Amino acid sequence: MATADDRPYLLGLRLAGRRVVVAGGGAVATRRVPALLDAGADVFLVSPEVTGSLEDVALAGKIQWARRPYAAGDLGDAWLVCACTSDPAVNAAITAEAEAQRIWCVRADDAALSPVWTPASGVAGDVRVGVLSGDPRHSAGIRDAIISGLRTGTLGARRGRGHRPGVALVGGGPGDPGLLTVRGRQLLAEADVVVTDRLAPRSVLDELPPDVQVIDVAKIPYGRSVAQEHINAALIEHAKAGRFVVRLKGGDPYVFGRGSEEVIACLRAGIPVTVVPGVTSAVAVPAAAGVPVTHRGVAQEFSVVSVHVPPGDERSTVNWPALAATRGTLVLLMAVERLAAVAETLIRHGRSGHTPVSVIADGTLPTQRTIVATLDTVAPRVFTEGIRPPAVVVIGEVVNVAAEIAQLVRGMQPGMRGSAGAHSADTHYSGGPGYSGAPSAAGPHPAGSGPAGRAAPGTDRP
Ligand SMILES: C[S@@+](CC[C@H](N)C(=O)[O-])C[C@H]1O[C@@H](n2cnc3c(N)ncnc32)[C@H](O)[C@@H]1O
Repeated sequence: MATADDRPYLLGLRLAGRRVVVAGGGAVATRRVPALLDAGADVFLVSPEVTGSLEDVALAGKIQWARRPYAAGDLGDAWLVCACTSDPAVNAAITAEAEAQRIWCVRADDAALSPVWTPASGVAGDVRVGVLSGDPRHSAGIRDAIISGLRTGTLGARRGRGHRPGVALVGGGPGDPGLLTVRGRQLLAEADVVVTDRLAPRSVLDELPPDVQVIDVAKIPYGRSVAQEHINAALIEHAKAGRFVVRLKGGDPYVFGRGSEEVIACLRAGIPVTVVPGVTSAVAVPAAAGVPVTHRGVAQEFSVVSVHVPPGDERSTVNWPALAATRGTLVLLMAVERLAAVAETLIRHGRSGHTPVSVIADGTLPTQRTIVATLDTVAPRVFTEGIRPPAVVVIGEVVNVAAEIAQLVRGMQPGMRGSAGAHSADTHYSGGPGYSGAPSAAGPHPAGSGPAGRAAPGTDRP
């Protein structure tokens, strides 16, 4: 039966500037010293030999190292002792000396004889977790589960209301919830209000506690600029009311996402703002379709262009003749409905009509669909295939590299092929009905298998 001695009293020791003696320089000390230093402890290490990493720390002057065996009297001024030598008799002597001086001592070689137990500990953001169960493996497993839950946001980590002030602009990635960052999930888990739109990864909204208010700005019935004013106003109003607001956006907030406008509006209203970068569709969507935006010897540069206004439009600031002159990859966002004008302009300024083009719609989502064409043929192909926004257009020879990779995969034995069962946003190099790469081929989700032609009315505008 468990005694009171098996029910330790958990504390958090604030060790900054306080002396901690570590006796022993092996694996245990190597694990303990960095954590002690992280807590600001003044570490005195006594051991004739130490591991390479402890030696590095000592040489860097971060700890004091006495290169000799432990000696009686070494505990003077210590608040805490770690007895982790390889000799049980020495550890017993250290524990006895500590006991006599009423200094807490962790004896690493024998938990039953140790006055102090070290919990399995971990850190997630500014939360520290310590677990003691009597079975170190069990404790470590529970610690891992808690830390992972906190980091991914699946474990409720909401602070007291109003504790974290302001607004966080969180880049949600291109759509697959697996591409939302750990930091983004953490902040979502703390939100009182989430302001989202149709390009954000909506499936994560189901995981929010029921009392979190979700505002879907795609439903704001105004024109674009007015809608942006309403978004800014909503962010400011809720933050001023003391709520923590997460503005969940598609891709990266600062890549054609009007994130900077929202930041400026909040700051002007005196609201503190955090920006969490996201995985941008400009790179992730091509990757999800097997298209590398650079390849050594093929494309040394790539340009990401918003085509929310077409070439020739007086509002356009894009130097299309310069883009036509480069050999680099062009990645076009918001281009689907203006592809004919883009292709015509690039060809007119010198790009070959045979330049390969890949158009990837609903990238990283179960409805992902790819078509491969050339500059000459892409606009009519997009029309006849019924490709709808959101889509990313990749122009350049890297599209042929994707075809080469796909060709190699198709030549592999089935058992050797890529990652069956991998995450849906991963590129599956598994051959079969997936990406075939050749002109007219379909993407990871073969032509016609996804509802691209019936996609929900997408927006092709920022
Ligand atoms: C207003 S921009 C926002 C871009 C976003 N901030 C980013 O970093 O990905 C919207 C455009 O991003 C592209 N896009 C975003 N998500 C996409 C997806 N899952 N599949 C294909 N294109 C996507 C499309 O070109 C869409 O029209």
